[in-house]
Amino acid sequence: MNNKKIAIIGGGNLGMAIAEGLIKSSFAKPQQLTVTRRNLDRLKPLKDQSVTVTSDNQFAIESSEVIIVALKPYNVKEVLEGLKKSFDPTRHIVISVVTGIFLSDLSSILNHGVPLFRAMPNTAIAIQESVTCLCSTHATESQSKYVTDLFDQLGITISIDEKLMDAATILGACGIAYALRFIRAATQGGIEIGFDAKTASLITAQTVKGAAELLLKLNRHPEEEIDKVTTPKGCTIVGLNEMEHKGFSSSLIKGISASYHKIAT
Ligand SMILES: NC(=O)c1ccc[n+]([C@@H]2O[C@H](COP(=O)([O-])OP(=O)(O)OC[C@H]3O[C@@H](n4cnc5c(N)ncnc54)[C@H](OP(=O)(O)O)[C@@H]3O)[C@@H](O)[C@H]2O)c1
Repeated sequence: MNNKKIAIIGGGNLGMAIAEGLIKSSFAKPQQLTVTRRNLDRLKPLKDQSVTVTSDNQFAIESSEVIIVALKPYNVKEVLEGLKKSFDPTRHIVISVVTGIFLSDLSSILNHGVPLFRAMPNTAIAIQESVTCLCSTHATESQSKYVTDLFDQLGITISIDEKLMDAATILGACGIAYALRFIRAATQGGIEIGFDAKTASLITAQTVKGAAELLLKLNRHPEEEIDKVTTPKGCTIVGLNEMEHKGFSSSLIKGISASYHKIAT
């Protein structure tokens, strides 16, 4: 258990999920957390667990050592500009999960050398199964270790160069939507071959989870596992090749590339 106090500025979907995950994993006690937003009614589930909830960002920052910024991108400049005198570079660590806001943007808004981290999690953070890509500036090794430990409670953490942050957003954060669309389409196929929607969805979701775990837990290559289920002249290879003839891999690669060009321009 770490005893640093953590403020989450912007307790929306992601901010709430981070707070819940840190409590569930016992990384932080509820009493170590302060979460802010203007509409405090929405923070009642956290307040009921003894988390401090407030609309006073200055109070939250001044009473904490770790500041997680989970505001919408268009709110960041205005909100942080008004608070920059509250940040103390000798005491605070700032972690931004805001899409498209660079470390240099944060540095110039805050205008001093406070240790800064930029994190890109995905929505599976709500069940502590995110992949979070992380980069930093002005941070010591022990501050980096602390922030890595924090996000490790919420899934897994990968350190990257900031120039890969857009790519991380596409593959990790948008990737949730691509994977879910695969599950949705496979479910539709499952209904066509005889299952009701609920059963088809359950079989598909657990199958995708199992396939992913084969890679994550056994460190296998996807093609090695595909070879095991593609009997010569069998039904798997016939279906798989038909999917490829219709552009399965190609459309995924093109979709990821299109998303990347959209974010990077
Ligand atoms: N969701 C994802 O998958 C994901 C993944 C990676 C990164 N991100 C990034 O994470 C950030 C948050 O996303 P989200 O989905 O959690 O958005 P969200 O639900 O809209 O959360 C933003 C919160 O900021 C609060 N807020 C606005 N002005 C404020 C102020 N002056 N002081 C304190 N709080 C204020 C809003 O609540 P009030 O209106 O009540 O103040 C709102 O709850 C975004 O920048 C997004 O790009 C999201």
